[in-house]
Formats: sequence, C-alpha cells, structure tokens
Amino acid sequence: MKKIIIDCDPGIDDTLALSLAINSPEYDILGITLVSGNVEATLCYKNALKLLNFEQTSIPLYIGEEVPLVRELVTAKETHGEDGLGNSNLVYNYIPPQKNAVDFILNSLNKEKNIKIFALGPLTNIATALKKDRETFKNVELICMGGAFKSHGNCSPVAEFNFWVDPDAADYVIKNYPGMVKILPLDVTRKFLFTPNMLSYLKHLNKKRADFIESITNFYMDFHYEYEDIIGCVINDPLTFIADLREDLFEKKEYYCEVALSSQAMGQLIVDEYDFYKKKKNVILYTDVDNETAMKEFLSRLFKDHRDEIFARSDLY
Ligand code: RIB
Ligand code: CA
Repeated sequence: MKKIIIDCDPGIDDTLALSLAINSPEYDILGITLVSGNVEATLCYKNALKLLNFEQTSIPLYIGEEVPLVRELVTAKETHGEDGLGNSNLVYNYIPPQKNAVDFILNSLNKEKNIKIFALGPLTNIATALKKDRETFKNVELICMGGAFKSHGNCSPVAEFNFWVDPDAADYVIKNYPGMVKILPLDVTRKFLFTPNMLSYLKHLNKKRADFIESITNFYMDFHYEYEDIIGCVINDPLTFIADLREDLFEKKEYYCEVALSSQAMGQLIVDEYDFYKKKKNVILYTDVDNETAMKEFLSRLFKDHRDEIFARSDLY
C-alpha cells in the first residue's frame, strides 16, 4: 500500500476524489488536510466529516491555511453551493477539529519515507509547509490538479481556480519544490465528464451510493448547464488519483512552468513549451487522457461488485 496525504478543498469533486481514494486498496491515507478554496477551510472540514460519515470510515482531518498567501480569499459557492456540497445538507457528527495541517504534513514526512501527496485545491498549505522545511519534501511525490495549458481557464480566459485563488502559492511550489511537480490541468480534467446517463445507470448498481452522488452533484450539473452549456459535470479532482493508479491512460510531458502573479493573466500556468527561458524543467504536465477508460476505472472502484460489467459497457458516453 502507498502512504498518502490528501490536501483538498471539498468541494463536490474533491469529495468524489476522497471517495475514490478511500475505496482504492492501493492507498493508506495517513490524513486529509483542508485548505480554503471552493469554500472556507472550516466548511471543507465539515464536508470531509460528511464524506467520512457516508463512507463509514475514520481518517485524521486537519484544518490548514484559511486564506491565500497574499490575495484575499475568493470562494466558489456559485459552483459548489453555500455548504460546498451542492446544498445537499448531509448529516454528520461534529468533532472538534485539529488545526495544524502544515505541522501534520511536515511531521508525517519526517516520520515516514515515500509518502505521496495529492493536492486538489489551492496550494496554500503545501507552499506554507515547503517554506517552513523544504528538505523534508525531498523524494516526496506531489501530484496536483490545477492550471490550464492549451485549454481556456475557468476563472478568467487563462486561469484555473486552484491557481487563481492562490497564484503566489502555486508559483512558489512549482519553482521551489525539490523535484518535478506532477500537474493535471483543465486540458485533461475537462474530458472527465460525469453525466446524468451515468447516474441513472449507477442507481441500478448501488442505489445508496448513487443517491449520495446525486445529492452532491445535482447543483454542480445545473451550474455546468447554465454557465458552460454542458449536460453533466466536470469532476476534476478524482482524475488526479486515476493518473496515479492508471498512468497508462495518460500522455504527459515535462516543461519549465511558472504561474502569473498579477494583471489580467493572474493565476495562469505559464508553460514554456518552446524553452524561451532555458530553465530546468520543473513540471510533469498531463496533456491527454483516455477519458472513457478513466471514467470506468473511477466508477468501478466506487461500485466495487460491478467492475466487469462497467468495463464491458460501450454506452457510458
Ligand atoms: O478548477 C477546478 C479545481 O478547483 C478543482 O479542484 C475544484 O475542486 C476547485 O478546487
Ligand atoms: Ca478541489
């Protein structure tokens, strides 16, 4: 099993990603750290509790940075709902939070070797921990959802939400990480579309789990229809785990990258595709995906007893 830490801002797609990680036997989840992004970190914490309650499991949770390094916090409640879970108002048992996410990350990295970190929200926690103790991140694999390469942004023509909320953290991590940072940009995650057709099929496989997914994605699907004329919803974050579990489904390339910190381009992932800066490559950028097989991999892990049936279908999309 692979020891992992998940840093996230649940958030609807983060929640689906947490479900995927919890239901993937390859992972030993040491802890989940929460960062302000889709909603405030304190609300992300409650949403993580709701997911753990649904999955009937217990994983240490830690609240991290509640505001970006420099910018004022801008959340995405128009996308994820006032409660951050599509206004589903799910039940949960409140447990007073631990608030030392950055210390948890650094202590874990000092205690255990070969930890992998998945960052599914703004990189404020990761940047803060990296500033405190860069050495500890040596040989630690970091895989993030963020940025846009050839695809358009979702917060501006060029900026993706995670890197737009905290561009200073994203730029700092990419430039100072002691190793290549793996990044899944919107170019690949936009192809990871969860549709009403899939949801109606899943109800036949496990109604309880399908109803849970429906309760948190209804609002998200309405948002996608109203703002992007899409039938379904782009579930960015779970694809980050599929990229780790099924490298064979992806194309990727190494580039030197940085993140624009100001002006109209603020939050843009600048990819030096033609090596103008002559700088050492610092990012492994995922550029394409076999999205149909990736979706089957995702669904078959959540709907465990139906893997063969799901993979045999040719009508998911
Ligand atoms: O731009 C999409 C990303 O921003 C996803 O991680 C989503 O959850 C939000 O955090
Ligand atoms: Ca997220």
